[in-house]
Amino acid sequence: MSHAGSKLTIDTATVMYGVFGDPIAHSKSPLMLNRAFAEKGLNAAYAAFHIKPGTLRDAVNGIRALGFRGVNVTIPHKLEVMDYLDHVDEHALAIGAVNTIVNRDGKLTGYNTDGIGYVRSLKEEAHFAPKGKTVVLVGAGGAAKGIGYALIQEGVKKLIIANRTPDKAYDLAKDLQAWTETEGIPLTEIGSYLEDSELVVHTTRVGMHPHIHDIPFSPQHIHNQLLVSDIVYNPLDTRLLSEARLRGAKTHGGLGMFVYQGAYAFEYWTGLAAPVEAMREAVEASFAANNP
Ligand code: ATR
Repeated sequence: MSHAGSKLTIDTATVMYGVFGDPIAHSKSPLMLNRAFAEKGLNAAYAAFHIKPGTLRDAVNGIRALGFRGVNVTIPHKLEVMDYLDHVDEHALAIGAVNTIVNRDGKLTGYNTDGIGYVRSLKEEAHFAPKGKTVVLVGAGGAAKGIGYALIQEGVKKLIIANRTPDKAYDLAKDLQAWTETEGIPLTEIGSYLEDSELVVHTTRVGMHPHIHDIPFSPQHIHNQLLVSDIVYNPLDTRLLSEARLRGAKTHGGLGMFVYQGAYAFEYWTGLAAPVEAMREAVEASFAANNP
């Protein structure tokens, strides 16, 4: 039976969850995860917590003290939080960031579901199999590292990292070269690399609301054998994606990465398959309500 839309009743048996971030007011995670709990008929509730600098340690101890079952962690706390956990999963450790905490009888384990959420979205929505492919990542920050690492786990042949600040591209290429062939390049040189690639993943915030006319790189080298993937999901359709379509490329938007990183968190916490379509619908409905 679907409990979608049923009223949330909080009582003494309710299992508590949340998200820690700063800022946090625009997070779509509470409505997405509460919809997932309702859909599965679980007595659980998920709230947003504005955790300011210097208070993260106390907040994490609060998970233990209050018996929260799980917490998501977002900007700017994904690195620091690792210092306060009992265990960090090996993949999260390699990426150097935690976005999901699971509380097992007072012991906190940190995971990273961003990269694997991205890959699941790429497979399910764009039907793209990364194995053996040449991929260009645009950006060399935390998002690029998580996605690059997850793509490597899937067996990509070569990862090219293109970044505005070339040194950061070289550094990330070096970090990831233990697992596959990598190359760091200045963003200005992306054109010729796109010609030999099957997937380009844009991992920066260029083009995000309110700068919706910005584009991270010149689209002139986008070709019709390329899948263009943008992790920006506000707006759902970015300028990069529309320029890519004009050139006959396939496109993949960023909403799925958000939905699937939450789906993995739900699955780690509950052991149940996440109601992915209901979660996506909850986020889309919220966007539609905000942009009538
Ligand atoms: P995140 O965790 O979201 O990846 P981050 O670690 O701060 O955030 O990394 C931001 C990335 O976006 C970097 O690759 C950054 O490029 P620089 O290393 O040159 O700063 C990239 N970025 C941000 N604004 C950009 C812009 N206007 N044009 C190109 N790249 C941009």
